[in-house]
Amino acid sequence: TLGNSTNIFWHECPVGKHERQRLLDQKGCVVWITGLSGSGKSTLACSISRELHTRGKLSYVLDGDNLRHGLNKNLGFKAEDRAENIRRVGEVAKLFADAGLVCIASLISPYRKDRDACRAMLPESFIEVFMNMPLELCEARDAKGLYKLARAGKIKGFTGIDDPYEPPLKCEIELSQKDGICPAPGAMAGKVVSYLEEKGFLE
Ligand code: PPS
Repeated sequence: TLGNSTNIFWHECPVGKHERQRLLDQKGCVVWITGLSGSGKSTLACSISRELHTRGKLSYVLDGDNLRHGLNKNLGFKAEDRAENIRRVGEVAKLFADAGLVCIASLISPYRKDRDACRAMLPESFIEVFMNMPLELCEARDAKGLYKLARAGKIKGFTGIDDPYEPPLKCEIELSQKDGICPAPGAMAGKVVSYLEEKGFLE
């Protein structure tokens, strides 16, 4: 549907996605990292981007926290606002993928239906990565002190405390602790890059 826009048309540019892909020697796709605040999404995103750059592959990170300083600065954390946040980032990620980049989106994206709507925009090239880290670990890290504020009732509707996180029912990659130890970001990034390689996105 076209929402509120009427009398609008699609103009196809003759320089297409496949030409760009050949130029870059890679295929555009979206790596969508979901998980609790403090689960390590941003660190993983940057680590994947670094690894891809080292291999001569072009990527770009869309980080939820960062985008809320600009594109999404008018959105809060109510369910409708989070849905709009995810929708916008999904649309931007789709453009980056169309441009030929490996777009790495890192957002809590707590609601399954919002993530699934992004997946539906990119049926062949959406790679969902679930940072399955226990709340206790994320809360113990509390890098920004937000869990403490949420526990004290000073932030309302904080994911994992008094707002839900719905884990994926099925995702391409799940990252979790092994024997109570969190793998190093480089090791987790390696897993994601290997997946991209196996699926032919890096050629
Ligand atoms: S969402 O749910 O996908 O729309 O969130 P996202 O855009 O990724 O932004 C998450 C960062 O916002 C900070 N923050 C909160 N998170 C969750 N719930 C509430 N109420 C909240 N208020 C502020 C927090 O720093 C999140 O950063 P990350 O990087 O996930 O730790």
